[in-house]
Amino acid sequence: MVARLVPESTDPVGPEASTTLTITVDGEPVTGLLGQTVAGVLLASDTLAWRSSARLGRPRGAFCAIGVCFDCLVVVNGQRDVRACQRRAEAGDVVVVQRDTADPAQGEDR
Ligand code: FES
Repeated sequence: MVARLVPESTDPVGPEASTTLTITVDGEPVTGLLGQTVAGVLLASDTLAWRSSARLGRPRGAFCAIGVCFDCLVVVNGQRDVRACQRRAEAGDVVVVQRDTADPAQGEDR
C-alpha cells in the first residue's frame, strides 16, 4: 500500500487555513479549531476524561464519538446533557463539566 499525500498547492479540495477559536472549560480557556466538536477541542488539549460516572465516579469522556453512548455529556452555555462529540464548538462557548450523582438504589453506573 502506498501512502498518498496530496500537496496543499495541488489539492483540488483547496482547504482553507485553519481558524482557531477559544472556549472556556470549567473557567479555563481552551483553544481549538473552527469545525471541531467540543469533544474534539478537549481531546486535542490532552483532556481524555471530563466527567465522572454518577455512581462510582469512574472517568468518562468520548467513548463512541458518534452520539450513541452519552458518555461525553457536558453543560454548554447553561444547557445540560449536551453530547460533546456532537456539538460543534463555537468561539466563546462556556463549557462546564457535568457532575451528576446517582441514587444508590439504582444499580447501573452511567
Ligand atoms: S462519545 Fe458517545 S455520545 Fe459522545
